[in-house]
Amino acid sequence: MTASTRHFLDLDEIDEADLRGMIDHAAAMKRGEAGTDQPLRGKYLAMIFEKQSTRTRVSFEVGMKQLGGDVVVLNGGDLQLGRGETVADTARVLSRYVDCIMMRTYEREKMTEMAEYASVPVINGLTDSTHPCQLMADVLAFEEHRGPIRGRTIAWSGDGNNMAASWIHASVRFGFNLRIACPEELKPDPALFDWADSQGGAVELLHDPVAAVRDADCVVTDSWISMGDDEANRHNLLSPFRVDDALMSKAKDDAVFLHCLPAHRGEEVTAEVIDGPRSLVWDEAENRLHTQKAILAWCLA
Ligand code: CP
Ligand code: NVA
Repeated sequence: MTASTRHFLDLDEIDEADLRGMIDHAAAMKRGEAGTDQPLRGKYLAMIFEKQSTRTRVSFEVGMKQLGGDVVVLNGGDLQLGRGETVADTARVLSRYVDCIMMRTYEREKMTEMAEYASVPVINGLTDSTHPCQLMADVLAFEEHRGPIRGRTIAWSGDGNNMAASWIHASVRFGFNLRIACPEELKPDPALFDWADSQGGAVELLHDPVAAVRDADCVVTDSWISMGDDEANRHNLLSPFRVDDALMSKAKDDAVFLHCLPAHRGEEVTAEVIDGPRSLVWDEAENRLHTQKAILAWCLA
């Protein structure tokens, strides 16, 4: 990696101005006012998937092609990586063929090792620790419906998982208040709260979902069992954090609902909420396409 390589690994590692620039660029592309000149013509993106994906896979492929480039999709088990070739050697070799690497994997360390040895930008397509691409789509969806997110209050109710961690990063970078309600056993890494504090962020950890959503502008949740989690006792721990109409009624009257999908109706969210008028989930999913085009353009600028 060279000092000038623009990796998109986590929101805490990228300047606020750059992230805001990507959101604005994504919105312009969505309106058809930018990106129509195929700026990534002749560029190739390799996508490594060690976990399943619908949205990330399809939106990156379509986005790259809309910008004039092309993709190679690699399932982890099909690569020599799956039978012991090192991440470092894989990074060095892929860098000789493609212009950018997107990786979805388990341990964050595998992603950072890929970035360390690749000479092309590496994009985090989700790890056990974070999911930064999703947050870019979520911020855009909120702002399209409710205006600037700065100074607003977002409430998380559910597992303190990889999405919750990226919401913590986003709250500092985009300047909004974040209340996370989750079981004590499933809270996010305390280092994330320390980081937010050190940056002057406004992130609160609670164990009461009603207190978390009170007068919030947005309520967010995610599945109770993430890829790679084992089920043990999660349903019992998490059922008080389910987002239903009663919980939504404690938020502001015009509060919106976000969920990165895939969803499990009747578990983390009821059908009445996710399929109801306050849910932005389809715009949120669509925005993966627009925001990732902006991320690709930023990485390959
Ligand atoms: N939200 C999201 O990342 O979806 P996929 O797992 O389908 O890519
Ligand atoms: N927390 C979920 C997000 C899926 C997009 C998971 O990691 O499975």
